[in-house]
Amino acid sequence: MGGIMTNILTSLNKTIIAGVILTLCFLGYYFSLNNSFDIYFLQFIFRYIHVLAGIMWIGLLYYFNFVQIPNMPKIPDEQKPAIGKVIAPAALWYFRWAAMVTLISGLILGHLNGYLLSALKLGIVDSNSTNTAIGIGMWLAIIMWFNVWFVIWPNQKRALGIVEATAEEKVGSAKRAMLFSRTNTLLSIPMLFAMVSAQNIW
Ligand code: HEM
Repeated sequence: MGGIMTNILTSLNKTIIAGVILTLCFLGYYFSLNNSFDIYFLQFIFRYIHVLAGIMWIGLLYYFNFVQIPNMPKIPDEQKPAIGKVIAPAALWYFRWAAMVTLISGLILGHLNGYLLSALKLGIVDSNSTNTAIGIGMWLAIIMWFNVWFVIWPNQKRALGIVEATAEEKVGSAKRAMLFSRTNTLLSIPMLFAMVSAQNIW
């Protein structure tokens, strides 16, 4: 048993597959109780994908802001490329694609829940406070997604030397990426409040 677990846990791919298999067991149980593949099931699956991707995105945002950025000054210059050339690019890949999956699954979820447009219009047209709450959460998260793809990533590409830039441009880009990453950390706090509060407002 120990051998099997070590074999699984030393491979990231096998670990993920094991997690998916466990989830499929729960899914089997769910179907045994409620054997219909209906709109509620789709909402449930998209909510699950959405929260999973959201954790990946905001988890990496918090890694950058709580761990990487504050500790960079403590790393000797000759060791900085380990972070800049290896860790940060890998983290940024998962970061921006998780942001994309969170956005797409969130929009699909809003549509399946039947209130996408009303929420995007902040529930004002039909005076629906749940849609106002989820709408505020959506807009804050859409701004954050925009910052990731159109501000943080292009600036990080210059700062990390993934695309050509002068030394001066690199400094400016690193600063801009940091400030927008901080902005997203700030926005994540009210965003998640608005998003989860939708379940509790009536
Ligand atoms: C990028 C744009 C986003 C959109 C369009 C969006 C949209 C939605 C929608 C429509 C719901 C369903 C609410 C409900 O069924 O009551 C939801 C729930 C939720 N979202 Fe988002 N979301 C976004 C970003 C995020 C982010 C970044 C996170 C971070 C973790 C997140 C976490 C959650 C959570 C935890 C729920 C609650 C699920 C529940 O209570 O069952 N969302 N979101």
